[in-house]
Amino acid sequence: MKLLWLNAAIMCAYFHAEACQPGQQRFGGSCYQLLTERMTWNQGDAACSEMGAALAVPDSLEEHQFIWEMFTGNVTTKGNLWIGCNDSAEEGKWMRSGDEGGECNYFSWAPEQPSDGEGQPFAQDCIDLWRRLSGFMDDVKCGNSLFVICESPVPFAVPTMSCLQRYADARSSSHCLNGHVMEDFSAEGVIACGSACRDKPRCRSFNLRRGGPGEMICQLNNITRNEADVKNIRLDSGCKYFEF
Ligand SMILES: *[C@@H]1O[C@H](CO)[C@@H](O)[C@H](O)[C@H]1NC(C)=O
Ligand SMILES: *[C@@H]1O[C@H](CO)[C@@H](O)[C@H](O)[C@H]1NC(C)=O
Ligand SMILES: *[C@@H]1O[C@H](CO)[C@@H](O)[C@H](O)[C@H]1NC(C)=O
Repeated sequence: MKLLWLNAAIMCAYFHAEACQPGQQRFGGSCYQLLTERMTWNQGDAACSEMGAALAVPDSLEEHQFIWEMFTGNVTTKGNLWIGCNDSAEEGKWMRSGDEGGECNYFSWAPEQPSDGEGQPFAQDCIDLWRRLSGFMDDVKCGNSLFVICESPVPFAVPTMSCLQRYADARSSSHCLNGHVMEDFSAEGVIACGSACRDKPRCRSFNLRRGGPGEMICQLNNITRNEADVKNIRLDSGCKYFEF
């Protein structure tokens, strides 16, 4: 089958993409980056600070799970992970890494932790996520050499003007690109879907598909129409294909 691409409708609009840097992962309003070397708590704090970030601090069970899975998904066999809390200044008062400071207020300690206090041979003033206990928290010596994840706010979304092309075939029928969807979710419309595509470094084009009543499904594709096999381009009156 041969499709003839006769016309392309162009539409320009402001897209509000907010994105983490390549190599970072996003959770909620933050970007997270795993560093490749082990270091002391202070070295980790300094390395993150240099990137405009702070040592990651979990503030909820969900964030704790995200950080732990991000870490163990990469460093699969051994090693513990610093989080950005220490109580060097005042025992039991856990202060955060980073310029904003303030206290750490979410804790999920391993059994019998924290163990610092009177009668210890050395201070254990920094918190790590302990692999042997599935990522629960432990207070340890700040000079230990552990892995580090840095956390920074997702950069402020700058609206950028971009143009979209919507292709139609010879009979002006709608079509979509199938088989290369890397993510799909419901979206309000073409701007929201286009912004989501702009957010994802690997997104090359997108489909906007009619879902249930009043619902639009945004599908982010990892290739463009021209790179795809013709068999993956399907005429479909309930679906529109776009690329930047
Ligand atoms: C692990 O993290 C490092 C540092 O961020 C990165 O260079 C590497 O590609 C990651 N590896 C995997 C398997 O995710
Ligand atoms: C502990 O945290 C404080 C405040 O963030 C910081 O000044 C200090 O260098 C940190 N490190 C150690 C090892 O106490
Ligand atoms: C694009 O995503 C599909 C799954 O939808 C996958 O099979 C394919 O390998 C991906 N291609 C590229 C270039 O990433």
